[in-house]
Amino acid sequence: MKVAATEFERRSRSQRGGETPALPGTVPVRWRKQMESVLITQGQIARRVQQLSRQIERDFSGRELVVVAILNGTVMFLADLIRHLNLPMRLDFVGVSSYRLETKSGELVFTKELRLDVRERDVLLVDDILDTGKTLNRVLEKIRELKPRQIKTCVFLEKKVERAYAIKPDYVGFSIPNLFVVGYGLDFAERYRNLPFVGVLRAELGGG
Ligand code: IMP
Ligand code: MG
Repeated sequence: MKVAATEFERRSRSQRGGETPALPGTVPVRWRKQMESVLITQGQIARRVQQLSRQIERDFSGRELVVVAILNGTVMFLADLIRHLNLPMRLDFVGVSSYRLETKSGELVFTKELRLDVRERDVLLVDDILDTGKTLNRVLEKIRELKPRQIKTCVFLEKKVERAYAIKPDYVGFSIPNLFVVGYGLDFAERYRNLPFVGVLRAELGGG
């Protein structure tokens, strides 16, 4: 599902003007000081995540999954995705940190290793957002060494950018323009993960 840049620009322009447009993407009053705009609403997320669960269910029908989620950004997406997944599954996490308290990509550090045995298993690797592809590429490499039967990748968001690493996820929630977004698990310097929507931070707070 694509979120068009033009629609996004239309929303943010009308919000800069100070009016309150009758659009679904209007920023809730309590977040107006921090958020430039809402890119994806809570309702849009709920519908899309259910569709992804259905799709994964069909593709892995008759199998038992090992869902491997990358900490911490997947927290909300993962909870919603597996809540709707009617498949036998086990859950594990890997911790990778690439963004060190800012929006620029830094060195990759593994902060938590996989504990479940994935050899000959069907793995669904879940991440919050695919940007350069560096994180997913590194984690995929590591899991492949453990010889699973298959690995499929699922990302909540995918940025429409030239990717440094050739990664094509099997499941994508939304494709978004090249903007720094927060909410629904995604952070800026560890903040804003609790927003129920995906928003663009105001430029003066480091967003855009
Ligand atoms: P990549 O390694 O460049 O693909 O970046 C992936 C990781 O960077 C994600 O798991 C996020 O933690 C973080 N990231 C990339 N873009 C954003 C963003 O717009 N908002 C918040 N985090 C982001
Ligand atoms: Mg992250």
